[in-house]
Amino acid sequence: MLYRTHNCGELCKKDIGKKVVLSGWIQKIRNLGSLIFIDIRDYFGIIQLVFSKNLTKKVFDLGKEFIIKVNGKVVKRQSINCNIPTGEIEILVSKLDILNPSIIPPFIIEDKTDGDEESRMRYRYLDIRRNPIKNNLIFRHRISLEIRNFLSKNGFIEIETPVLINHTPEGARSFVVPSRIHSGKFYSLPQSPQLFKQLLMIGGIDKYFQIVKCFRDEDSRSDRQIEFTQIDCEMAFVEVNEILLFFEYFIKYLFKKIKNIQLDPFTCITYSDAMTRYGTENPDLRFVIKFLDINDFIPKKEFECFKTKKFIIGINILKCSHYTYDQIHSIIESIKKSKVEDQEIFWIKIFPDKTFLSSKEKLFTKENMVKIIKNIDSNPGDLLFLLFGKKIKTKTQLNKLRIEISNCLNILKNYQIFKPVWIIDSPLLEWNEEFKRYRSYHHPFTSPKKEDIHLLEKFPGNIRSKSYDLIINGVEIGGGSIRIHDKSIQNLIFKHLGLSIKEIKSKFGFLIKALEYGAPPHGGIAFGLDRLSSILGGKGNIKDFIAFPKNNSGKDVMVNSPTFLKKEKLKELNL
Ligand code: AMO
Repeated sequence: MLYRTHNCGELCKKDIGKKVVLSGWIQKIRNLGSLIFIDIRDYFGIIQLVFSKNLTKKVFDLGKEFIIKVNGKVVKRQSINCNIPTGEIEILVSKLDILNPSIIPPFIIEDKTDGDEESRMRYRYLDIRRNPIKNNLIFRHRISLEIRNFLSKNGFIEIETPVLINHTPEGARSFVVPSRIHSGKFYSLPQSPQLFKQLLMIGGIDKYFQIVKCFRDEDSRSDRQIEFTQIDCEMAFVEVNEILLFFEYFIKYLFKKIKNIQLDPFTCITYSDAMTRYGTENPDLRFVIKFLDINDFIPKKEFECFKTKKFIIGINILKCSHYTYDQIHSIIESIKKSKVEDQEIFWIKIFPDKTFLSSKEKLFTKENMVKIIKNIDSNPGDLLFLLFGKKIKTKTQLNKLRIEISNCLNILKNYQIFKPVWIIDSPLLEWNEEFKRYRSYHHPFTSPKKEDIHLLEKFPGNIRSKSYDLIINGVEIGGGSIRIHDKSIQNLIFKHLGLSIKEIKSKFGFLIKALEYGAPPHGGIAFGLDRLSSILGGKGNIKDFIAFPKNNSGKDVMVNSPTFLKKEKLKELNL
């Protein structure tokens, strides 16, 4: 059987008079009595059919999402539809075949749908018929293709690494898979192919990449899935600057190819500067809202709040003194929602006539108020927010406040502005209060900065690493580091992470052994493909770019996973 001579999106005015065969899904039926109009859709587009003669019973049996095949002639359309490429023509149908009927779909399968998230996920295959989702998948395919082309042209080769492995520490929990043959033993699913790519470098591969699935047992968010894809890369004989340079070029290439946008040179700031200036390691540089450390210019004793050794910091929102109490209140409420204890926030409005109003008149003398206003570079018409509390938390909160305010001012709605920033020199180790010990800030294979190694015994928290993260518009798109290729340093780091010699041997013996056989200096990075797609595609949720995503509780409601196993299966696995 010939299903089609053309697809539903390619016919136009110049085809008028042609006899065609088309197949597709019914999107819309309009029954005008003697005439029936039906829109059919396929992967390529949508086209109007008109049934005028031979209105057999079959036509009246049709419903939405039936797949039909029609024979007919391309004719000029009476009322032109400028919104679709086939809008100037229609198909006068002479023969109709029903290829497959459909039951009534659970939601409208058009660009605008009435389907809620739950039912769109349950019937994801129907959701994928809709242009917004289908186009995102095509978009992601284009990105993958460009990535493969670019990296291949630049000497990288794609190598697959195993999925059933031993645990690799990347900061999250791993998923485990019981082994039937090795009773009581488990494989882990990779959180990333970190150690395999390092072993490839030790194996003499010069440049590796892989578009690869990674698995992390963590809570899902709009930019986080338990199963996601990385563009994983590694290079031999490189230092930080070469990696930053090459991957800046890579990201610029993608933006140019995919969006025709020429990105400006990337900003590069240290982790410590990012925390001081923005209160976060993932700063969104699309908006500049002044972030000032009031402690720098007001003597501590002058503020009552400093008696409790608190830290105070302020931001100036230009030209916003007209904000109503309600607007200010809603900003403050959303900050408070994040439940940071021991935190206070207040505001000062500086009116155009230079008078001012503060939510905490009594806290400051008029003199001090003037001092703040002056030092924070504010002008009549501005609105200041001041936060005080513990230093790091206050800074983190202030970043939330910046984002909240930017949302109110609609600054973040602009998805066409991209501000990439490299964050370098993040700490090698961070203190974990729960376990009362240091943990890797990235992963244990990250190289410390040579000049900081001497801090290992006394101030491990102060050691900076040879790491880099790429942040675009406040989202961490990628991260990586120069790796440790020296066995003794690797052992030292393991030791400081609390691993005994026995544990090092049992967990990472293979790595330590490999480092003994002439491991080259090497480094790499991994980008989140889902996140990169959503940034390039101008959407805030990575699910839109994943064909079959998990919901926020890690479930696939379509195939109903995870699921219970039958007793016999558990027995077979010795569970
Ligand atoms: P990292 O853990 O920073 O580094 O991951 C690299 C990038 O992967 C993306 N990503 C995620 N995307 C969606 N859902 C998730 N749950 C998720 N977790 C991470 C982010 C992130 O920047 N092996 C190291 C890389 C290296 O050192 O080369 C690693 O995995 O965009």
